[in-house]
Amino acid sequence: MRIVMLGAPGSGKGTQAKRLENEYGFPQISTGDLLRKAVADGTRLGRSAKAAMDAGELVSDDIVLGMIKERIAAPDAAAGFVLDGYPRNRRQAEDLERVLQEIGIALDAAVLMDVDMDILMRRLTGRRTCSKTGKVLNVHFSAQEDIDACLRAGGELLQRDDDKEETIKNRLEVYERQTQPLIEHYSRKGLLRKVAADGGVDEVYRRITDLLGLGSRRPGSAVTGR
Ligand code: AP5
Repeated sequence: MRIVMLGAPGSGKGTQAKRLENEYGFPQISTGDLLRKAVADGTRLGRSAKAAMDAGELVSDDIVLGMIKERIAAPDAAAGFVLDGYPRNRRQAEDLERVLQEIGIALDAAVLMDVDMDILMRRLTGRRTCSKTGKVLNVHFSAQEDIDACLRAGGELLQRDDDKEETIKNRLEVYERQTQPLIEHYSRKGLLRKVAADGGVDEVYRRITDLLGLGSRRPGSAVTGR
């Protein structure tokens, strides 16, 4: 399956994309993660992306297009992928269509994660990443045992630089202005699948797999509907 995850910052795109990767093997391709790695590694690309990311603005379309092209062409993406955070404006959506056309493939669905604003704010302000395991947690929503497991492993709960309140506000405005028009774009193409993404992580995951006709893969159970 080739899926685009659409939704506001904090709607849970990364959480669900990671789960689809773990359970079905479609790699999660997150432009945010690729950019944060480039910043952490201090590459030229990372240095030119950092200011926009810190301000909650979008990085240039050409930079992300280069990253996406390379990542989609990797062997592990041949049987499918979940795009998390790309495309984010009309130009990126058109770029993506061209890239996919060139290699003779097409998207199967654009999943819109629909969440109320008050929940988004709690998810974003509460998000922490475990420095030891890399697991994304949340001080408001994660089970205490998951948080304790990170601390017991000697990890720290790190907050993303752009999860400060002022930057969150701008990220949400950028989403409304630049990314929301893609809802109409994918709706016109018949690819849009809207999911109520305001429940718990398991509940939202079940809704997504049902919507995509994937069935749910649990230890010892066969995958149905693929
Ligand atoms: P990016 O990393 O893509 O950030 P984003 O789109 O703002 O999305 P988030 O990662 O904040 O949220 P998410 O929806 O993935 O939520 P998550 O699953 O983590 O981009 C960062 C920056 O990079 C951009 O601002 C831009 O500068 C640049 N960039 C990236 N892509 C770009 C592009 N294509 N073009 C240009 N620039 C680009 O969940 C959030 C929290 O909620 C977590 O703590 C999680 O544990 C919790 N949570 C999730 N689901 C649930 C649930 N169901 N119940 C309870 N808690 C939950």
